[in-house]
Amino acid sequence: MYTKKIALLPGDGIGPEVIAEAVKVLRVIEKHTAVHFDIQEGLIGACAIHKTGNPLPDETLHLCKTSDAVLFGAIGSPEFDNNPAAKVRPEQGLLKLRKELGLFANLRPIRSYRSTYKISPLKESLIRNVDFIVFRELTGGIYFGTKELSSNKKTASDLCLYTEDEIKRISKLAFEAARHRRKKVTLVDKANVLETSRLWRRVVKNMAEEYADVELETIYVDNAAMKILLNPSSFDVILTENMFGDILTDEASVISGSLGLIPSASIGKKVSLYEPIHGSFPEGAGKGIANPIAAILSVAMMLEYSFDMTIQSAMIEQAVRETLDRGIVTKEINPDRYYSTSEVGEFVAELAGREIFESV
Ligand code: IPM
Ligand code: MG
Repeated sequence: MYTKKIALLPGDGIGPEVIAEAVKVLRVIEKHTAVHFDIQEGLIGACAIHKTGNPLPDETLHLCKTSDAVLFGAIGSPEFDNNPAAKVRPEQGLLKLRKELGLFANLRPIRSYRSTYKISPLKESLIRNVDFIVFRELTGGIYFGTKELSSNKKTASDLCLYTEDEIKRISKLAFEAARHRRKKVTLVDKANVLETSRLWRRVVKNMAEEYADVELETIYVDNAAMKILLNPSSFDVILTENMFGDILTDEASVISGSLGLIPSASIGKKVSLYEPIHGSFPEGAGKGIANPIAAILSVAMMLEYSFDMTIQSAMIEQAVRETLDRGIVTKEINPDRYYSTSEVGEFVAELAGREIFESV
């Protein structure tokens, strides 16, 4: 028996509901393996602001730093979005956590599922067999560069800054991942305009020489935005800087038909964080309509990247595919015949448990 400590940060909106289902899956894994998950909860986001005035209280940060992994729900609340004067914002909690844990690489896998081809607004012929993963740099670039507003408030600037080392560490992960996939890395940049992009290109091209078995393609971000919709199955690993990755992953999520299906991993220097990409969806909170699959797949990523439990991780993914195939889905996937958040979570957990049980 061995223990893995998980910091659980359900956060705002639908966060707590989907995280509850992800925990069900963790408990099932625990039942069939020698691992015990020591799950400890922390506050973050709007709910943390309400209780403590701070979107990322010190106790939460400490909990994360002393855990083996972090499972995160969502943050954000309309009361802050619609208030430009708000001094503290839930998002600051997440950005600070990324910086403090050094979460430098954000991995977002984009897949199309047979059972959801119909719900994507894109033609089935375009999205068949899409399977790529975006490696988005997460602690540098324009998000974290110096921000300035002139004293008369009429001029503002956000600095976009990258160092060679910041580019190298995420690129290494992307090349290694490509080696275990279809051996292609696409670097997305704006090297015809930006100096930082030219640095990315030079560094990544140099590194590519060490990965002779991996093909490197470079394309401009505007062109990439188009190609993600016109020929998404041509991508394998997309490597890009912080803001381009932010924008392109929301765009790419359209392929799977629902934001509720896409998990993510933010790889840190020591501790990594796992979260569904859908955000807090406040209008959906408390109604039992949130899709728990992205949170459950985030657990699968946690098992793969933080705990080296690749077999159990693959079984969760298999259970999710089967659940979708059987039509056990939430409302946004099939408004005519749908199940609640906890029914879908229960079903996946049960299937995953059965598969793991049968494999031992
Ligand atoms: C994301 C989100 C965040 C980002 C926001 C909430 C700060 O859009 O995780 O993609 O821009 O990184
Ligand atoms: Mg985003």
